Amino acid sequence: MAARQPIMLLVVVVLFQPGLIHSFQPLFSFDGNSTTHRVITERAVLRKTAEVCRDIAASEGRDFSLTIDDSLSIDKVQRACSSAGTSTSLLSTVIFQTSIAKMYFSNAQVDLIFALSEEHHFDDETFQGGRDVITAGVSAVKASVKKENFVAGRWILGGVCHTLQDFYSHSNWVELGNNAPHSALIRPDQPLENLAGPSIPTCRNCTGGNCENNLLPDLLQQGLLTSGYFNIFSSAKPAGKCSHGGPFDKTSKRDPVGGISKDDIGSSHGYLHHKAADLAVNATVELLEDIRLAVGDKNFLRLMGLSQSSVLCFVIDTTGSMSDDIAEAKRVSFNIIDSKRGTQQEPSAYILVPFNDPGFGPLIMTTDADIFKDNINKLSASGGGDIPELCLSGLQLALTAAPPSSEIFVFTDAPAKDAHLKSTVTALIESTKSVVTFMLTDVLASRRRRRSTGGGSPRSMTQADAQLYRDLARASGGQAIEVTIFQVVKNPGRPDNFTFTVDGSLRNITAYITGTPSLTFNLSSSSGVSQSSSQSSGPLASFTTAGNLRRLSLNTDNQTGTWEISVVSNDPYSVKVTGQSSVSFIFNLVEAHEGAHGDFSLKEGRPLSGGNASLLVTVTGSDTVKVTEVTLFDSSGPTEEVGSGNFLVTFSGVPAGDFVVRLRGEDSSSTSRATPSSFQRQASTQIKTSSISITTQANNTNIEPGSTISVPFTVATTTNGVVNDSATGTFTVRANNDRSYSSTAPSTITIAADSGGKANGTVTVTVPASASSGTQVTLTIEAENTAATDINYAVLRFSVAAKVTDVSRPVCQVVSSSTNCPSSSSLCASSQWEFIANLTDGINGTGIESVTIRQGNGTLNTSAVVGTGGENITVATYVASCCSPNVELAAVDAVGNVGTCVGQARESTTAAPVTTAAVNATTTSGGHTLSLSHCLWISVAVSLLWK
Ligand SMILES: *[C@@H]1O[C@H](CO)[C@@H](O)[C@H](O)[C@H]1NC(C)=O
Ligand SMILES: *[C@@H]1O[C@H](CO)[C@@H](O)[C@H](O)[C@H]1NC(C)=O
Ligand SMILES: *[C@@H]1O[C@H](CO)[C@@H](O)[C@H](O)[C@H]1NC(C)=O
Ligand SMILES: *[C@@H]1O[C@H](CO)[C@@H](O)[C@H](O)[C@H]1NC(C)=O
Ligand SMILES: *[C@@H]1O[C@H](CO)[C@@H](O)[C@H](O)[C@H]1NC(C)=O
Repeated sequence: MAARQPIMLLVVVVLFQPGLIHSFQPLFSFDGNSTTHRVITERAVLRKTAEVCRDIAASEGRDFSLTIDDSLSIDKVQRACSSAGTSTSLLSTVIFQTSIAKMYFSNAQVDLIFALSEEHHFDDETFQGGRDVITAGVSAVKASVKKENFVAGRWILGGVCHTLQDFYSHSNWVELGNNAPHSALIRPDQPLENLAGPSIPTCRNCTGGNCENNLLPDLLQQGLLTSGYFNIFSSAKPAGKCSHGGPFDKTSKRDPVGGISKDDIGSSHGYLHHKAADLAVNATVELLEDIRLAVGDKNFLRLMGLSQSSVLCFVIDTTGSMSDDIAEAKRVSFNIIDSKRGTQQEPSAYILVPFNDPGFGPLIMTTDADIFKDNINKLSASGGGDIPELCLSGLQLALTAAPPSSEIFVFTDAPAKDAHLKSTVTALIESTKSVVTFMLTDVLASRRRRRSTGGGSPRSMTQADAQLYRDLARASGGQAIEVTIFQVVKNPGRPDNFTFTVDGSLRNITAYITGTPSLTFNLSSSSGVSQSSSQSSGPLASFTTAGNLRRLSLNTDNQTGTWEISVVSNDPYSVKVTGQSSVSFIFNLVEAHEGAHGDFSLKEGRPLSGGNASLLVTVTGSDTVKVTEVTLFDSSGPTEEVGSGNFLVTFSGVPAGDFVVRLRGEDSSSTSRATPSSFQRQASTQIKTSSISITTQANNTNIEPGSTISVPFTVATTTNGVVNDSATGTFTVRANNDRSYSSTAPSTITIAADSGGKANGTVTVTVPASASSGTQVTLTIEAENTAATDINYAVLRFSVAAKVTDVSRPVCQVVSSSTNCPSSSSLCASSQWEFIANLTDGINGTGIESVTIRQGNGTLNTSAVVGTGGENITVATYVASCCSPNVELAAVDAVGNVGTCVGQARESTTAAPVTTAAVNATTTSGGHTLSLSHCLWISVAVSLLWK
């Protein structure tokens, strides 16, 4: 980052055009009183996450005092879920926050990618199509989680939630008087009933702009389901059908005029908006429960991003030349692993990617530190020669597999052979905000070799090679509990004074100053105490010097407020101040888009030089902070609050260059202080701008094994953020996918004269037939100008998903249940009861993979037998104390369909076996009621299986 003069960037809060939306509003509410997809998703995630934590706490005999309602916050839920969650301990909610953000960004993206697809929004009575979107998506989520691809799972889940939530706004489910979600939407094995057929009229004209009574009374009496027609181009719709409504829906202008949507309080049926939004929350909770049962509690919490720490990842060079160094790499990596064990920074998972020449991978992911160390131990150096290796390919795989904000260490002794991936890897670092540290063993190794053999390293790295790694490392930064308070690079150097704010939540503040030995500095605290660089131990800090680096441990006791560092040096230098705190922030670049589905969406890629850059900023780790200022680099402006904890800031006219986001605010949580304390944080990931625009859109995010997808993209040159329609030029194109699937892309693309300043191309990716469901594929498409001075990129994520043919849930048949429990509950401890059930997935099912106890604290044994019809039967035998008289078992098949089985101990006085069994709709935990339609359906299923 070069030094630059302060740039004043004007902050403009972008104004919305409410009429452009056709959906619950994706991220923001224009009227300030409507519920958005973002809020619906977040509420559901927090409720279900809290319920899972409550159930885990109960099973471990721990207290769980959090009240589960719509007032939950990310911070409250994470604290309650953390076993060490006392209010004083440091806790970073950055990952949980980032994960939820990914889900609502992907949710909002459906309005952009699938703007005109009726089934993604349940428009035009596409109930079967809409349900297919949901169930295919849910299968893909389950498959991803099974492969521990939580990033992909989250992304798909967010999109599925959009479609599910839209049902409650766009159909007449609410008007029919329903108070519970429409469970058949997540149950592909159930029929979709009571649909108004294609020729059945459903609406009449709204009168005088009032649409409250436009649904036909007959329809409501018969309980028939319909949804609104929507089209922005044509007013055509079948006779007598309802419309979505709103200024952009042309169908609502024709007889019957008006609409039925409940997207916001100003919609045609806006009077039912809040009811629809509440039901959408409950439906999302129901969907999450289905996923939870399929993947288990632990993986469910990981999918939600509720994990105290990130993933620790090692990318290790195993070529022959590393044989001297591999032991050192093992030692250092074990050190890193062990130093985090048992601390708050213990990773939730470990990833290992070995690389070599000519190959890299396979990627190994585990949650067990010992298994991980075993895997590292097994690495041995072989092959390779004097040639550089596929370091960046290995790193690329690690970056796409690890969740955002992960910590990645790369061990190598050689330059990268695949240096062409530098920009791809930089793009992935920018988009994941992961921290990459290069452990260049060459330096150590060559020193050792010289000492032992008297010779130099055969493959020593040149300055340019090392610079590549250095550039990549600089693009990343920022981590977990460790927060950056202030960071600046002065190049060229000149004497300067820097201030930073120390707040009460910060601990272990450390300052790092790099520069030449002649650099001097003076530190002064908020209370006027000062210390100069001639005192290595003084009232404010003690410091150590190693080479060019001075590391200062600050003593900030009772000295919150503004501190100052004055640096005197005319050579390049850098200053970085970090500390440990729960209070941090995340930001995402977002992009306004217009059309029928306006609002904002996540921007992957660099913002345009001279154009606008919008950031959605979210403070994490505190519910009581108020942001007063968001600054891009050293320029600032006011911010507008767009919702609790979230701030949308738009900087206009951002010049070319690299920028850093700084945030200042006030925390009023402090009980001891009457006045709120000020705090400041700085993001260490850079934002780079580009004048190249690259836009791309995949029309599907799931790919079947053996198929090829085509991804069209458009490249343009921009001036001040606007496409320069008279520009011409040629760009180098690079398309990379992290799975090394075969792919085609033009190597260059040319904007011809009279083409409106745009050039179109297509990238294809072919997924091998052997690829398994749940595999995530990340495709990066880059465009670089011929002078190689400017580059921009787009990132697309796909998920391999084979068509799921097994949609039926495992079926439970109770074989026997002993009825010898004493009638008096005070005697229950002396007796046991037994429950035996046969579980089957049917002849065509994928087979039962797991049976778990959802309720009851007895013991479960399972055994496999083959039934008379050749089907596989899992016999579940459950034994429990009579004090635990209820049992609920969940059986999950290979594709994640869940069937449950309920039994109850009865008193010995009861005559006949009265245990009830049911394959139950699995709603929120606790509800085991058996409805008539379920009974009928179960008996049909059972008779088919047992005939
Ligand atoms: C928001 O909606 C609630 C519930 O419908 C209502 O009580 C409140 O007055 C509304 N507030 C505004 C600012 O419109
Ligand atoms: C949603 O579920 C909650 C908790 O189960 C319940 O209290 C609430 O009434 C439900 N909302 C609607 C609209 O049915
Ligand atoms: C419905 O409204 C349209 C437009 O105002 C009008 O042309 C039509 O006659 C009305 N239909 C009925 C049945 O009243
Ligand atoms: C830094 O502060 C000192 C004293 O506070 C002042 O003398 C000096 O001029 C300042 N330096 C710069 C570059 O502003
Ligand atoms: C942080 O500071 C505390 C004392 O305030 C100390 O006990 C602890 O070891 C420090 N932790 C680190 C990682 O430096």
